[in-house]
Amino acid sequence: MKEKPAIGVFGAGWVGLVTGACFAELGYDVVVRDVIPERIEQLRDGRVPLHEPGLGELLEQNRERLAFTTELDEIVSRPILFVCVGTPPTYSGDADLSAVWTVVDQLPALQERAILVMKSTVPVGTGEKVRAALDARGLAHVGYVSNPEFLAEGSAVRDFMNPDRVVVGAFAEADSEVVAGLYEPLEASVVRADVASAEMIKLAANAFLMTRISFINEIANVCEATGADVEQVAKGVGLDHRLGPHFLRAGIGWGGSCFPKDGVALKQLASNSGYHFQLLSAVIEVNDLQKRRVIGKLEKHLGKLRGKKVALLGLAFKPNTDDLREAPSLVLASRLLAEGAEVRAWDPVADASRLLQGVTFCGSVLDAVSGADAAVIVTEWDELQGLASEEVRGAMRNALIVDGRNLLDPEHARAAGFVYEGIGRAASPLEALPETEEREPQLEA
Ligand SMILES: NC(=O)c1ccc[n+]([C@@H]2O[C@H](COP(=O)([O-])OP(=O)(O)OC[C@H]3O[C@@H](n4cnc5c(N)ncnc54)[C@H](O)[C@@H]3O)[C@@H](O)[C@H]2O)c1
Repeated sequence: MKEKPAIGVFGAGWVGLVTGACFAELGYDVVVRDVIPERIEQLRDGRVPLHEPGLGELLEQNRERLAFTTELDEIVSRPILFVCVGTPPTYSGDADLSAVWTVVDQLPALQERAILVMKSTVPVGTGEKVRAALDARGLAHVGYVSNPEFLAEGSAVRDFMNPDRVVVGAFAEADSEVVAGLYEPLEASVVRADVASAEMIKLAANAFLMTRISFINEIANVCEATGADVEQVAKGVGLDHRLGPHFLRAGIGWGGSCFPKDGVALKQLASNSGYHFQLLSAVIEVNDLQKRRVIGKLEKHLGKLRGKKVALLGLAFKPNTDDLREAPSLVLASRLLAEGAEVRAWDPVADASRLLQGVTFCGSVLDAVSGADAAVIVTEWDELQGLASEEVRGAMRNALIVDGRNLLDPEHARAAGFVYEGIGRAASPLEALPETEEREPQLEA
């Protein structure tokens, strides 16, 4: 049997930890390095610094093959070095590659052959630049491979272990072989490409997914204006085998650590190269506006929002994660506070207390909705499936639900005595809520 090469992973975030844990599960000896000492301490103590289903169990099961360190020299002797550091946006929209460059610049004068494998999402052209930097530093014997990651938070372990494809972009055929070979136990389809194309596959895939979401959201908005129901429309559209059902869920738009930054980074990359990526610009703008549609729906039923109590249910950018990066909840909370509303928020795992000043954080859904004029489903947590209950209706001042994720059955919600507003579904008539003095119904924005 072939000996499994030892693996080093730079970065103990979502991608680094999942990569490390999954390769350990596949039998590799792995060390994960991060620059945050507390994070490494936590991991050594068996605590997981982020909420990701199945990750804790995997780390626990593979303790003997997994080590965590802050020390550079404990990782750099390994023949395979995955780079999984963050690439957040800069003010210009370009990806901030400073953490990637720190890794490259800190590589010592390695004697042995090693391969640097880029899992971080980087602009097209990064591999060429890293290759040149390695060559200039006398590290021509260090290989470079682009191996973008497609996992989604909330199902990251499952996604890693069952990839639709593994993309391997290399300058040298031998490096491509080695990296593709690491994934052999997964029996996945491997897409071999040149480095620039591998980098573009990741950006293009994300841009396409974003496009589908913005597309169905615009269809939803037209459905609202014309009396169609986007859920029925999406089902009918998605059954077309040329289109497929995925990423056709209307709602209040995407957030998270990838789509917002990768979308802007691709738009910026194109514009740096002299091309105006019109479609992607529109896709991003549609998403920005979509988050704000909730405000119009609240105003339609409640009039001015000053002094109104609004419960925001779900803060994480999607269920099964505690990640708040670019979460629509942050935009909504800020807009509501700016309108003078009182915001009560609940999430089962995400802690937004340091990001949102002036919001009351509640320990339960019932606490969040008590005395509220409206409950807004921002993240489709399972816990919210039963929101349209007698208990919740009794606790609220106004039984208005704005369902930003089309999680509930509108008929059921209405039968339970709620005024229900979804996204792209037939709306409740205005007179459904009892009149209050301050209410000045307005047209939706
Ligand atoms: N989160 C996702 O769902 C996802 C999916 C696919 C791809 N990606 C991409 O993968 C990359 C990592 O994303 P993430 O969500 O895991 O980021 P993250 O911010 O959760 O984790 C990055 C980690 O890297 C560490 N780090 C920074 N500099 C370091 C260094 N010099 N050495 C070692 N560690 C260092 C940071 O302290 C941090 O813990 C990004 O480029 C992202 O776009 C993310």
